[in-house]
Amino acid sequence: MASAQHPPNVRVSSHPLIAHKLSLLRDRTTTPKLFRELVRELTWLLGYEAMADLSTQPHPIETPLEPMTGHQVEPKVGFIPVLRAGLGMVDAMLELMPSAEVWHIGLYRDERTLKPVEYYNKLPDAATVQLCLILDPMLATGGSAAATVDILKAWGAARVKQVSLIAAPEGIATLSAAHPDVDIHVAAVDRELNERGYIVPGLGDAGDRQFGTFAGPSSEPGHDRVDETAEVVRRLQRDLPAAQRNVPKEPPPDR
Ligand code: PRP
Ligand code: URA
Repeated sequence: MASAQHPPNVRVSSHPLIAHKLSLLRDRTTTPKLFRELVRELTWLLGYEAMADLSTQPHPIETPLEPMTGHQVEPKVGFIPVLRAGLGMVDAMLELMPSAEVWHIGLYRDERTLKPVEYYNKLPDAATVQLCLILDPMLATGGSAAATVDILKAWGAARVKQVSLIAAPEGIATLSAAHPDVDIHVAAVDRELNERGYIVPGLGDAGDRQFGTFAGPSSEPGHDRVDETAEVVRRLQRDLPAAQRNVPKEPPPDR
């Protein structure tokens, strides 16, 4: 099957454990408890890959037998969970790097315009870390990710990476065009956005599925402003370079 040509800053994991766990995560029958566990496990595996290029410096240590020169990770690292859904990725990243700082950014998508709206940001005046890893399970239109990178660069972060579970081609194109220097680590790139700006096949609403909040407006199929939202998605799809369009829709499996 043909696959999309992603920009060079995009790393799509090919690890079989990630593919297996991601399928369980997508399944509509997966409960919030299992969903949270899978988000944590997937983040651990993706985070391991996303930090594979961290520089280290020589560090003198003494084993019980003799002195030696060990390694110490060089850059100061910050994890930036985007509220709400990024919260479920924090613990796994802290297991990998307990010394990292965690700075929360609150953004939600306006359901009509699909533009990000900032509601929480307590970053101090100057950057306290050199490398920021943005944690957000979904990279859909890319609006939230691009806005978070804007915030972090204005803060003074020297390097930024995006760690997401599922991306849409539209979101990758938007983030890569705005910030080509930002590496994007994902478990999968799905086919496209639907007319409501949801990734398909996707997994639905990552925040609602983690926290069991299925009664909110974002979880209701077919809200009354779908025409305006669909026009935003059509514009993103028109701007998408042909090479970055993803594979055609698969036919439904034989019953
Ligand atoms: C989701 C997700 C991202 C954003 C992605 O958050 O966690 O932050 O949408 O969409 P985008 O790429 O089109 O900007 P949502 O707005 O649903 O907020 P929530 O996590 O509080 O539910
Ligand atoms: N946010 C989600 O949680 N899911 C999507 O598919 C798109 C945005």
